[in-house]
Amino acid sequence: LFSAVELAPRDPILGLNEAFNADPRPTKVNLGVGVYTNDEGKIPLLRAVRDTEKARVDAALPRGYLPIDGIAAYDSAVQKLLLGNDSPLIAAGRVLTAQALGGTGALKIGADFLKRLNPNAKVAISDPSWENHRALFEGAGFEVVNYPYYDPATHGVNFAGMIGALESYAAGTIVVLHGCCHNPTGADLKPEQWKKIIEVAKARQLVPFLDIAYQGFADGIDADATAVRWFADADLDFFVSSSFSKSFSLYGERVGALSIVTSSKDESARVLSQLKRVIRTNYSNPPTHGGAIVAAVLGNLELRASWEQELGEMRERIRTMRNSLVEKLKQVGATRDFGFVAQQRGMFSYTGLSAEQVERLRTEFGIYAVSTGRICVAALNTKNIDAVASAIAQVLK
Ligand code: LMR
Repeated sequence: LFSAVELAPRDPILGLNEAFNADPRPTKVNLGVGVYTNDEGKIPLLRAVRDTEKARVDAALPRGYLPIDGIAAYDSAVQKLLLGNDSPLIAAGRVLTAQALGGTGALKIGADFLKRLNPNAKVAISDPSWENHRALFEGAGFEVVNYPYYDPATHGVNFAGMIGALESYAAGTIVVLHGCCHNPTGADLKPEQWKKIIEVAKARQLVPFLDIAYQGFADGIDADATAVRWFADADLDFFVSSSFSKSFSLYGERVGALSIVTSSKDESARVLSQLKRVIRTNYSNPPTHGGAIVAAVLGNLELRASWEQELGEMRERIRTMRNSLVEKLKQVGATRDFGFVAQQRGMFSYTGLSAEQVERLRTEFGIYAVSTGRICVAALNTKNIDAVASAIAQVLK
């Protein structure tokens, strides 16, 4: 049965963890996967999460099934976080949300639902995009194309190229956009550029699919949802995949959501009914723990304030590490100006290092990064940053 099965390549991101874990060097540094670690190099357990978990364990709750679309209080909290507490769309019943297995799970159920809805549509993702976007939508049966996005010359967005591509797409094309903290480049769209994209999406009848896995890591919870809220204001039907992996430091609990904005309450009910069929035949219903924690924290003023404070601290620490990396690279005589690293947003920096240079970082220095040159700045700390800066300077020589 399996004699013809070929060995698949390692996953470009999670495969790095496997290689990192097998590396015996004590000085190794993992800048591959997008995971925030604190200055001690540890994944933090947030105070609000810890307190809520304790209370849940003490309550010794039964472990029944969740509804197919997850915990109602969780779904409602997700909508408010994305669209704002006073969103008229929420009030009008035009938003539906299903708890999902992380942001990836949200993309997957969205992709499967879209495939049933519009099987011949194409999917457009940014060039470059998160490695899994293409694989995920191709896996759902779509043809995936790239729209121009990153301009290495300016370290910013090639907006003319991007808009030109969007304007050329057929009606119904699904356009995946990064709501904030573009992964992998850290180059975000400016407010006026978002406005233009919304205008084009509307005029060309495109299907926007906003992926927002890093809400809170650029400027804050509300500020980072600006683009999502503008789409909502524009009276468009669109999809949003969101995640609490990073913002709640709950990676392994797989806590995400798919939200869909429709034109009416009645449409929402019908769309949700179909989405539930996709979920039921996929994994039946989501797990309880992570969703219950997030719902409890977001539903309690004190816990929520504590969460937002810690999220703010994570955001600030990343910013400090960005500035520090720029400074240190200068000090160790790096042959390039890395000032752009301080401008990029979110967890990542697209360093411009080549695949060969990344390979040298790994083999010679035990520093792991994605072969595209993406490093996770959120994994830098005061103990490893000198070694990282000096290694980068050396592979540039
Ligand atoms: C990343 O880009 O590193 C994260 O989103 C983790 C993942 O699942 O790839």
